[in-house]
Amino acid sequence: MKILIATDKPFAKVAVDGIRKEIEAAGYELSLLEKYTEKAQLLDAVKDVNAIIIRSDIIDAEVLDAAEELKIVVRAGAGYDNVDLKAATDHNVCVMNTPGQNSNAVAELALGMMVYAARNFFNGTSGTELLGKKLGIHAYGNVGRNVARIAKGFGMEIYAYDAFCPKDVIEKDGVKALDSAEELYKTCDVISLHIPATAETKGSINYDLLKSCPQGAILVNTARKEVINEDELIKLMDERNDFKYMTDIMPAAHSKFVELFSGRYFATPKKMGAQTAEANINAGIAAAQQIVGFLKDGIEKFKVN
Ligand code: 3PG
Repeated sequence: MKILIATDKPFAKVAVDGIRKEIEAAGYELSLLEKYTEKAQLLDAVKDVNAIIIRSDIIDAEVLDAAEELKIVVRAGAGYDNVDLKAATDHNVCVMNTPGQNSNAVAELALGMMVYAARNFFNGTSGTELLGKKLGIHAYGNVGRNVARIAKGFGMEIYAYDAFCPKDVIEKDGVKALDSAEELYKTCDVISLHIPATAETKGSINYDLLKSCPQGAILVNTARKEVINEDELIKLMDERNDFKYMTDIMPAAHSKFVELFSGRYFATPKKMGAQTAEANINAGIAAAQQIVGFLKDGIEKFKVN
């Protein structure tokens, strides 16, 4: 069996070493495609492989067509909006993710972005503190939970809204569960986004929702760019020069944001929420183990299609 790691944004070397150990211990062969610049390279690399480990790499029908021996794709991470699930099912390919494995890394970055915004991008002027501020966690999954845990240490007052997570699960963590996104945005000084990009959520963070945020609000996005209605966020930030947007996923209109909102807009050059050695090791090794479990014993835990 041949397993491919296909990562445009490579794992730390220590994680690749750990994955290799798992794969070779199972008697399988590992191949590596990193930092590829053309889709053709991916199409070529998948030709003879039985399993693929990816990150945000796109797996569409064309890739699946090229991968004639493919049985399983594991997204080493949480969000799998980069995989065409229907096409995978049509090709009889199992798709899994590795939930929770990189969530602390993403949560730490979210808190880092909050501090960076509150302290005026470390520009030497007098900023504000997170202590006592109201934090709104939009979606209380693995990352949201970790954000709550860390934010408690900062002494923030923590609120969450999640359309699917029962209120008592949220409140067990000492977090106030609200009934709607509207209520969350109206209440909180800082909003941290942790919703996936789905047909329902795409473009859902819009003008109407954001306009109710208190003065001096900070929106932190370590989730997906697609959930933001960019035109409406620009309109809002145009009207409200107190509003800051911090994102780990560069918007399509990045240059416009830079031009218009200097000092209250920040985007990482490349999504780096999960870019820690620890997250790479956790997610990468989990992916390798899930592949071995699936190929050897047919274990389908974490299958998403
Ligand atoms: C995820 O969905 O797991 C995160 O967004 C991390 O994505 P990445 O592996 O592309 O950094």
